[in-house]
Amino acid sequence: MNIPNLKEAKKRTNKEVETNYYESKYQNIVNNKKYFLKTYGCQMNEHDSENMKAILEEMGFEETENMENADLVLLNTCSIRENAHNKVFGMLGRAKHLKSTKIDLIVGIAGCMAQEEVVAQEILKKYKWMDFVLGTHNIEQLSELVYASLKKHELKIEAQSCEGKVIEGLPTTRNSKVKAFVNIMYGCDKFCTYCIVPYTRGKQRSRKPNDIIKEVEQLVKEGYQEVTLLGQNVNAYGKDLNINYTMTDLLVDVAKTNINRIRFVTSHPWDFTDDMIETIAKYENIMPSIHLPVQSGNNEILKLMGRRYTKEEYLTLFNKIKRKIPNVSITTDIIVGFPNENEEQFNDTLDLVNKCKFDLAFTFIFSKRVGTPAEKMQDTISIKEKEKRLYKLNELINKYALENNKKLLNKTVKVLVEGPSDKNDMLMGYTDTNKLVNLKGPNDIIGQIVDVKITNIKTWSLDGEYVK
Ligand code: 5AD
Ligand code: SF4
Repeated sequence: MNIPNLKEAKKRTNKEVETNYYESKYQNIVNNKKYFLKTYGCQMNEHDSENMKAILEEMGFEETENMENADLVLLNTCSIRENAHNKVFGMLGRAKHLKSTKIDLIVGIAGCMAQEEVVAQEILKKYKWMDFVLGTHNIEQLSELVYASLKKHELKIEAQSCEGKVIEGLPTTRNSKVKAFVNIMYGCDKFCTYCIVPYTRGKQRSRKPNDIIKEVEQLVKEGYQEVTLLGQNVNAYGKDLNINYTMTDLLVDVAKTNINRIRFVTSHPWDFTDDMIETIAKYENIMPSIHLPVQSGNNEILKLMGRRYTKEEYLTLFNKIKRKIPNVSITTDIIVGFPNENEEQFNDTLDLVNKCKFDLAFTFIFSKRVGTPAEKMQDTISIKEKEKRLYKLNELINKYALENNKKLLNKTVKVLVEGPSDKNDMLMGYTDTNKLVNLKGPNDIIGQIVDVKITNIKTWSLDGEYVK
């Protein structure tokens, strides 16, 4: 057993990051067995799930979309807000019910919740019937834990709190044949006061440039059109490598692989350099689409959040990006109801939204996370008031999203067509600015970047027609 520990998770040292190479174990040891894997949370988790799928498939498991048919249920969890937690515990309730009729069912959780001391303690107390808890730093141990569970039903927790390492060579079953996620770094050292990520994902660890470039080159060979470079704070890429190689250098080298589209998430305004802006503007295959979380438009709240910039500094950066990158779209994240945020402070956020007119924003009510500094902050604002503010903010966000989309009406834009849409007989894809388009066109344009004329606009998506 390796049980996570909050005190250990907070530590940061100067120890050099270890790189481990994955060795596949327990190949084809099961026959006719199915796994059900559900993923919660961010793109990083989605990509980790792609690795977990491949590890299970190496063991001989096949995927099922239906939990009732599964021999193994694995939940890849998220800790970012309380509702993500609640959903997982709800799902575990369903899995327990299933296990009461299917005695050999294996049930495990992975992901950020697995790294939380409070979650591990609760599982030890109330979820002893589960088979395993797998931390974020040791995905490669999945096959070992599943193998041990096949032999004997007994709760195993392998989620050591540590700064983390880099694991190269994990197998991947990618969800798409058109676009791919590529990790460029793990962890985060920013310690924003509300955020649990630095505790669940460990210290910032960049992958070596060569390993990233090789992965992208391979994807190009396999016919992929797009890569999304992933990290909690990608602009700080390379700072921990001591080789004088930055996110700008990486963007240039990835652009030179000639992959058709490059995206990257998530950017912290603190590390966004002028060089980087110029590079994005210069290379056609780096998409003009930037996710730039602001979190709040009030300087006192930003300070309490530990964000390291002011509203004015954010606006300066925002305007510079808009000026230098033609046609760029900028999206953001905003938290309302940070402890004791008053009406005036909230109005500063509305003012910032009125100035930035974001293409899209993801908005959240502050959620207390155990072990973060913000957990201890007094809060006198009612949840009702917070919900009212969220509603008001969303109305404004939606207004600007629609306004921005309107500019595209009757224009012809480039769309990477990904596959069938859930709308009847339509295809779906994304513009270079990352706007969702449902379009009419023949199936043989799937996987291609094509011209699409926008015929109708909505707040969250566009409709269009393929132009030959
Ligand atoms: N409460 C609410 N929202 C949060 N986020 C991160 N931590 C919290 C929290 N404790 C939001 C931030 C971040 C996004 C991924 O989730 O806006 O950018
Ligand atoms: Fe969390 Fe801040 Fe790191 Fe983003 S930059 S993952 S919000 S601590």
